[in-house]
Amino acid sequence: MIVVIGAGAIGLAVAWRASQRGLPVTLVDPEPGGGASHVAAGMLTPVGELQYGEEDHLRLGLDSRDRYPEFAAELADLTGIDIGYRREGNLSVAYDGDDLAFLRDQHDFQASLGLRTELLTGRECRRLEPMLAPSVRGGILAPDDGSVDPRKLLRALLAACEGLPIVRERARELVVEGGRVRGVRLESGEVLAAERVVLAAGSWSRELADLPVRPVKGQILRLHSPYPFLTRATRGLVRGFSMYLVPRPDGELVVGATQEELGFDSRVTAGGLWELLRDARTLFPGITELEFKEVKASFRPGSPDNAPILGPAGPEGLLAATGHFRNGILLTPLTADAIADLLDGREPPEAVRPFGPGRFAPAEAASPGDDR
Ligand code: GLY
Repeated sequence: MIVVIGAGAIGLAVAWRASQRGLPVTLVDPEPGGGASHVAAGMLTPVGELQYGEEDHLRLGLDSRDRYPEFAAELADLTGIDIGYRREGNLSVAYDGDDLAFLRDQHDFQASLGLRTELLTGRECRRLEPMLAPSVRGGILAPDDGSVDPRKLLRALLAACEGLPIVRERARELVVEGGRVRGVRLESGEVLAAERVVLAAGSWSRELADLPVRPVKGQILRLHSPYPFLTRATRGLVRGFSMYLVPRPDGELVVGATQEELGFDSRVTAGGLWELLRDARTLFPGITELEFKEVKASFRPGSPDNAPILGPAGPEGLLAATGHFRNGILLTPLTADAIADLLDGREPPEAVRPFGPGRFAPAEAASPGDDR
């Protein structure tokens, strides 16, 4: 038996892919389809959000982004649920001269890596997104990036996992004997026997295994527009601060997100909301007319290098699928395929090889492929 701890997007997708290969899987989660996945915005923007020094992350993100069309089509065929995958491009816009200088550097960096992006004037940005403020100075269009609706994704993955046992309890600890995983002790004290365990518990993974994952709090809000407000996911730089807006065809507009190192502090704060709305209004003055629907705080599973931790970890039989930080939804299709490969005794895709847990313990093996 394989136990997957965590039934967010990553855990559910791993369970689905593993069960497609005929592997026996049980999911453990007190709230399947909840956690950070339920709060996520759903940006698929490895190019638009590229950071200096993260070329390996870029390869990972591009590989997973490009799996989405097939992944979405397969889920729709199986479950009848459209997960709202759209490849409408990603726009980054600059508010002032310093923000624009930063975006110009970013465009040079993207071009140096052979990525397809376009530097736009303020007028060109407004032609793409007419609700943008006249003061916006310029931007970058990354035409191959896109978005997905994480709540529809979760519904589809839950439907795809129908028939698999789901234990609605928190996992308290791993049961390890002789250096091997033997099972999972649940909150009730009951032990679920398992030869292999996939740890996909997001920020809570550290409570179950020795992995350098920490919660990075994000506050995020949802508005509703009765008329088309925005066409594509748009990232704004406003006086050096970064925020984003993600529109959906049904009128939902997600505005995110704060990034706070406060442990498991789940409070929504006036200051967090104010910062998001202040910058959103600076870029899109019309936002104040929209209906407020929801605000939530959740926890991104951060790792020391902002990249996921994928592969054999600690006791034999344990596989990590955690630490996805800001990119859990983006990296869901690739993570699921890679972990299913490892469970199935196959080589995982090349892009995941730099991201084994061993990279944080130099004496040990350093990649999912080498760790086995
Ligand atoms: N992926 C966006 C965020 O973490 O805020």
